[in-house]
Formats: sequence, C-alpha cells, structure tokens
Amino acid sequence: MKLARIFAVTAVVLALASGCSIHAKPDKKTKDVMEEGFKGKESLAARLAQGQASSADALKMVELTRQLALNVPPKGTHQGWRTKTDALYAAAINLSAKKPGAVDAWKAASNCKDCHSVHKKD
Ligand code: HEC
Repeated sequence: MKLARIFAVTAVVLALASGCSIHAKPDKKTKDVMEEGFKGKESLAARLAQGQASSADALKMVELTRQLALNVPPKGTHQGWRTKTDALYAAAINLSAKKPGAVDAWKAASNCKDCHSVHKKD
C-alpha cells in the first residue's frame, strides 16, 4: 500500500517536472492575437508603443501575450519563440504597472519584423 502511494506521488512529480500539465493549450491562436492586438496602425500594440494606452489596455495585452506564449510558432525554434514571447509578456506587465522604461522595452520586444522574419511563414 505504502509503496503504491510513493509510486503515485513520484509519477505526479515526474509529470510536473517534464512539463506535461504546464503545457496548456492556448485559447487564442497566434493569428487571433495578431488580429486583436497587433494588426494595423491603431492597434493596441501601436498605442502601447506610443505610450498612449491605459492600464486596462496594457492588461489586455498581458493576456494576449500570455496566450501568444502558449502557441507554437509556425517556423523557427521553440526556444527563440519562448524568449521573444516572454519578453513581450514581461514588457506588457511592466506597462500595466507603469514601470519606468516600460514603453521602450515594449517597443523593442514588439518589433514586428524581428519576430516575423524568424517565426512567420511567408
Ligand atoms: C513574438 C513574435 C511576433 C511579433 C512581435 C509580432 N508578430 Fe505578427 N505574427 C507572428 C506569427 C508567428 C505570425 C504567423 C501566425 C500564423 O501563421 O499562424 C504572425 C502573423 C501576423 C499577421 C497575420 C495574421 C493573419 O490573420 O494571418 C499580422 C497582420 C501580424 N502578424 C501583424 C503584426 C504586427 C503589425 C506586429 C508588430 C506591431 C507583429 N505582428 C508582431 C508573430 C509575431
């Protein structure tokens, strides 16, 4: 009995450690995130880059970039995607907290071309 229990606990710990349960499926696909938050001159991403967005806008971007990070990129390495999407997520959080330097960090992280050239299929 005791041994079986130790086995069960070990299995759960291993599953967690290997990232099984953390690998949540995104509610929004990359395309949806782009449409909702990035596309166009008046997009949320553009307004954030101009320092014109409210905290509510920034919070919306926190959720969008969290979703983005859960996606798998159509092209390029997972590691590269992770680095880029983590930077976007962190920058959005700092914007929502109105941290100094957050706008510049957002501009750098949200560079469309830097990401598309590596992760978007033509
Ligand atoms: C962290 C990476 C990343 C950044 C930053 C990024 N994009 Fe994207 N974008 C993608 C990927 C990946 C796709 C392709 C999605 C697919 O084909 O499923 C895409 C697709 C798109 C699309 C096409 C959506 C569709 O309906 O097919 C548009 C429009 C777009 N991005 C606009 C932008 C703009 C504008 C910016 C900058 C303000 C930007 N993106 C920044 C990763 C990014």
